[in-house]
Amino acid sequence: MSQPQLRPLGATLGTEAVGVDLSQPVDEETLGWIEAAFAEHPVLVFREQKLGPAELAAFGRRFGKPKIHSLVDYRHDDHPEVSWLTNVDKDGKIDWFGVKRATDWHTDSPYEDEPPRLAILHAKEVPSAKGGTMFADMRAAYDALDDAMKARLAGLTGLHGRHDGPYGVRLYEGDPEQRLDRKYTEKARPAVVRHPVTGRPILFVNPLHTHGFAGMSKDEAWPLIEQLAEHSTQDRFVYYHRWRVGDLLMWDEQATMHRGAGDYEPSERRIMLRTIVYPN
Ligand code: OGA
Ligand code: MN
Repeated sequence: MSQPQLRPLGATLGTEAVGVDLSQPVDEETLGWIEAAFAEHPVLVFREQKLGPAELAAFGRRFGKPKIHSLVDYRHDDHPEVSWLTNVDKDGKIDWFGVKRATDWHTDSPYEDEPPRLAILHAKEVPSAKGGTMFADMRAAYDALDDAMKARLAGLTGLHGRHDGPYGVRLYEGDPEQRLDRKYTEKARPAVVRHPVTGRPILFVNPLHTHGFAGMSKDEAWPLIEQLAEHSTQDRFVYYHRWRVGDLLMWDEQATMHRGAGDYEPSERRIMLRTIVYPN
């Protein structure tokens, strides 16, 4: 096989990997190529793919452990480590939880025992317009902070959990319809982490799941979290991914934040498969 190629999609993030067929088991050479590309390009897109849940989980397994998500009702029946991201319910009607889910800036599940490494979405049906996913480059966002803020963050530990007002929105638990199969406790994570391959510093604070800093009052912490979120989500750090059917997109759960743009017509179907992968 000839070497795959990289093609930039956005000014900051978003890189297409051209010339890889993920429906076949990926050989070691190609896996090495993907790993090297992903270390530098934390939102990597493979177009025109066609994977079922088993293949998606198998691809995820090459990078770590795909884990069963706590949200019970969206698991794939045959492959529970794969979930549906869908706005269509079992009767074919609009699933409003699916529509509004994940439209605030976040990283996935930083409150699990260990934070996930990456996640993969594979588009099966997409709206005729909009309905994209936005990604923020948390490496570039960190680099652009001033020295005083960098010094302040160096000593800070973020507290990550599922939280419910007054400082945050309720997610999942706030929706009585949603069944979770586990309870979460607060997890402490450094506010700045380093990329395991490149060593680049990354701002690891997000406005959905980070609800405080160790040793800091909420009244002081929340404005800081908001300020950091506003800084990180400036246009210059954000890539808007326009989905095509067949896109398989993997993102680094540390180096980026993301959100559903939430800007499409809900009556149009938007259906994807997802797996979240944890370090081995
Ligand atoms: C996710 C997520 C956003 C979207 O899959 O973790 O946040 O656009 N998705 O569906
Ligand atoms: Mn998410």
